[in-house]
Amino acid sequence: MVTGGASGIGYATVNEFAKEGATVAIFDYDEEIGKKAEEQLRSEGKNVTFYKVDVCSFGDVKNAVYKFAEQNGGVIHHLVNGAATFIFKGLDATLEDFNKTFTTNVSGYAFTVQAVHPFMKKAGGKGCSIINIASVSGSRPEANKWTYNSSKAAVLTLTKCMALDLSKDGIRVNSVSPAGTWTSALLNTLPGPGGREKWEPIFAPQYMLHRCAEPIEIARPILFLCSEDASFITAIDLPIDGGHM
Ligand SMILES: NC(=O)c1ccc[n+]([C@@H]2O[C@H](COP(=O)([O-])OP(=O)(O)OC[C@H]3O[C@@H](n4cnc5c(N)ncnc54)[C@H](O)[C@@H]3O)[C@@H](O)[C@H]2O)c1
Repeated sequence: MVTGGASGIGYATVNEFAKEGATVAIFDYDEEIGKKAEEQLRSEGKNVTFYKVDVCSFGDVKNAVYKFAEQNGGVIHHLVNGAATFIFKGLDATLEDFNKTFTTNVSGYAFTVQAVHPFMKKAGGKGCSIINIASVSGSRPEANKWTYNSSKAAVLTLTKCMALDLSKDGIRVNSVSPAGTWTSALLNTLPGPGGREKWEPIFAPQYMLHRCAEPIEIARPILFLCSEDASFITAIDLPIDGGHM
């Protein structure tokens, strides 16, 4: 199950899980791109279903998780939380900005974990894992980003608290912290006019690898953390940042 799976890093993650033969649910509130994603991936023979879900609504999340679990033999093995809102504000941030950011980026992650937990327990716990997509922005100051950056810092601690509580069921919980990745979110929040061609060389010097990431370069490490190869890894944050931090 991937929240925010209709586009960007979430979509790439859905695609990679499906390529490995998994039955995957896309949880996203954007019906248009969600349905298109489902159509595209099914046309490639992948077992993917789109559920229109607003992660800010515990009712929505619970109902959709229940439906997906029912179709999946009553169990869920992996959850990737990626649905996020990108409000970049500082001195000008309002209560509404903070509420929207934290409800989506923090409570939204918590609600999905609460909803999938019984179905992971039913799956036996061991072999089940959760990945919360944080960001390098959660570990460093950036100008005018009190809202987004503090929400991503919260995800880092939320992940460790979840890992502790779910460890008794054998469920592993980790986060990943990507740096700049070419998705619509990045393109929509560029600091000025122009597209990727203009901004890639401007961003590049921040990274040892001298470029931003492609979504698949975040998705593959997420799959690794969900795999049996990572069976003794829990409560960590994995930076996927081309050497940025
Ligand atoms: N792109 C980057 O440079 C970058 C860097 C670091 C971290 N991240 C993190 O990666 C994750 C994915 O980001 P992305 O760049 O792929 O963005 P994106 O905009 O391509 O994808 C985000 C998806 O979340 C969905 N969404 C937003 N609010 C929702 C809600 N309330 N309920 C359900 N769905 C909702 C959107 O419809 C969208 O499909 C986010 O958590 C983001 O913070 C991205």
